[in-house]
Formats: sequence, C-alpha cells, structure tokens
Amino acid sequence: MTERFLKSKIIFCIIFSLLYGASPKTINVATHGILSLNPLVEGEIEDILWRHNGNKIVEWDKKAGNVREYLKFKGRIKLDVKTGNATIINLSKDDSGFYDADILIQRRLISIKHRVEVFDPVSKAKISCPNNATLHCEAEGDSLDYSWFGPGLQTAEMRGQTGPQISKENQDSVYTCVVNNTVSNSSVTYHASDCFTSGDYFHFMIQLSTILLRKHDDVAEIISSS
Ligand SMILES: *[C@@H]1O[C@H](CO)[C@@H](O)[C@H](O)[C@H]1NC(C)=O
Ligand SMILES: *[C@@H]1O[C@H](CO)[C@@H](O)[C@H](O)[C@H]1NC(C)=O
Ligand SMILES: *[C@@H]1O[C@H](CO)[C@@H](O)[C@H](O)[C@H]1NC(C)=O
Ligand SMILES: *[C@@H]1O[C@H](CO)[C@@H](O)[C@H](O)[C@H]1NC(C)=O
Ligand SMILES: *[C@@H]1O[C@H](CO)[C@@H](O)[C@H](O)[C@H]1NC(C)=O
Repeated sequence: MTERFLKSKIIFCIIFSLLYGASPKTINVATHGILSLNPLVEGEIEDILWRHNGNKIVEWDKKAGNVREYLKFKGRIKLDVKTGNATIINLSKDDSGFYDADILIQRRLISIKHRVEVFDPVSKAKISCPNNATLHCEAEGDSLDYSWFGPGLQTAEMRGQTGPQISKENQDSVYTCVVNNTVSNSSVTYHASDCFTSGDYFHFMIQLSTILLRKHDDVAEIISSS
C-alpha cells in the first residue's frame, strides 16, 4: 500500500510540474498603474537584461556600468542593479505580454519569465431604474463582474447587470451593485423608492395607462360592432 501511495505521489508530482513548472506567473496591472518585476535572485548580479515580447527594454552590466533603456520604455523603467527588480510606471495595454530576464550571477545564467496583463480599472458604477422598474447596473472597464446585494437577494443568483425588480413590496429596500475586475472594484447603492420618483417611471406609468385606455376602447368597439 505504501508503495502504491509512493507511486501515485510521484505521478502526481510529474503531472504537477508539467502543468505548472514551465508556465510563467501572470501579473495583472491596471492601466496607468505600476508594474514591479522581481526576479528574487540571490548573489551579486554581474549582468542583467530584461525583454518585452523578445525585445530588449533595459540592460546593465558591471563592466559598462550604465543602465540602458530601450524603445517606449525609455524614461519610465527603473532597474535596481542590486536585486534585478525592474519597475515600470504608467502602464498601457501595449505593455501586456511576456517579460523575461537573463541574469548573470557568478557566471551562472538565470532565466526569469513573467506574463503581464494590463486591464482598464472599473469606472464609477451607476444604477438606473428603466421603464420596467428593473434595476440596471453600468460601469466601464475590462472583464467586469457584476453582483447585487440587498434584502432578500441570494448573491449566487444575483449576478449580471440586471438587478431586482422594484415593486410596492420592496420599495423601502436599499440595493448595492458591486462591479469588479482583477485590478479594481466599485460599488454603488440605490434606494428602491427613487425608482418611483424618477422621471422614467412616471413616463412608464403614463404609457401604461394610455395602453390600458386604448385596450378599453378596442373592447368597447368590439362590443358595439357585434
Ligand atoms: C525587490 O523586490 C522584492 C520582492 O518584492 C522586494 O522585497 C524588494 O524590496 C525589492 N527591492 C527593491 C530595491 O525595490
Ligand atoms: C501615460 O501614458 C499615456 C499614454 O499611454 C500618456 O498620454 C500620459 O501622458 C502618460 N502619463 C504620465 C503621467 O506620464
Ligand atoms: C428592463 O428593461 C431594460 C431596458 O430598458 C432591459 O435591458 C431589461 O432586460 C428589462 N428587464 C426585464 C426583467 O424585462
Ligand atoms: C470579482 O470578485 C469576486 C469575489 O472577490 C471574484 O471571485 C471574481 O473573480 C472577481 N472578478 C474578476 C473578473 O476578477
Ligand atoms: C475591492 O478593492 C479593494 C481595494 O481597492 C480590496 O481591498 C477589496 O478586496 C476589493 N473587493 C473585491 C470584492 O474585489
């Protein structure tokens, strides 16, 4: 039994390293945010080169002594030559992709890989109450998740931009819409009673009564013609 356990443990380790060993860590950053690439190496660095999608972005070697910055990273990348940390400011979508470093420490070459994704953060969320009195949540940003909180709502069920419908029964409730993505979040609350005082709802009630009146006329016509 112990042998079987050992065997399955070895197989598990092989599968685990195949799945995760070679894949670089992903770092999610907000547009205009700061990216910090930390190689976490030990020892005195003699030579270091960072690349973005295969193109040199910053390099340093002990002999030359100066740090050289390249392309669109000029002026917004800082290299700490002691730790190998590279810090980039004011990130844009174009900065997404693969970052890798070659670091020479005591004539040993160490390779570092990171995957970076830049996301627009969540803009201020807004709740509106359109004609059908069903709350609607709206925000801008990349890969947004919407969730609703409030009396009687099951979080797992209240996902998406469409929120609860407001009626006489829940008009005293306060609802919250939370919008998030991997880099930020925003939330907004709404007093259900505001749905009835908003212009939209009055417009809706007028429309509804017009329809009802017209229906009434149709019925009267049918009765009189028969
Ligand atoms: C380099 O990154 C490591 C890990 O995040 C951090 O502990 C260290 O303070 C950083 N060094 C510098 C000089 O920024
Ligand atoms: C950040 O980058 C954008 C272009 O992506 C530029 O328009 C803006 O001026 C930059 N901001 C700063 C503070 O450098
Ligand atoms: C209510 O109306 C909005 C548009 O005005 C629509 O997006 C939404 O799906 C409607 N909800 C229901 C429950 O009918
Ligand atoms: C939003 O937040 C929830 C809960 O913290 C999380 O499970 C979900 O992955 C987040 N959505 C995104 C797009 O990151
Ligand atoms: C929302 O963002 C704050 C930081 O701005 C963070 O502390 C919090 O955990 C985030 N909440 C969710 C649900 O993602």
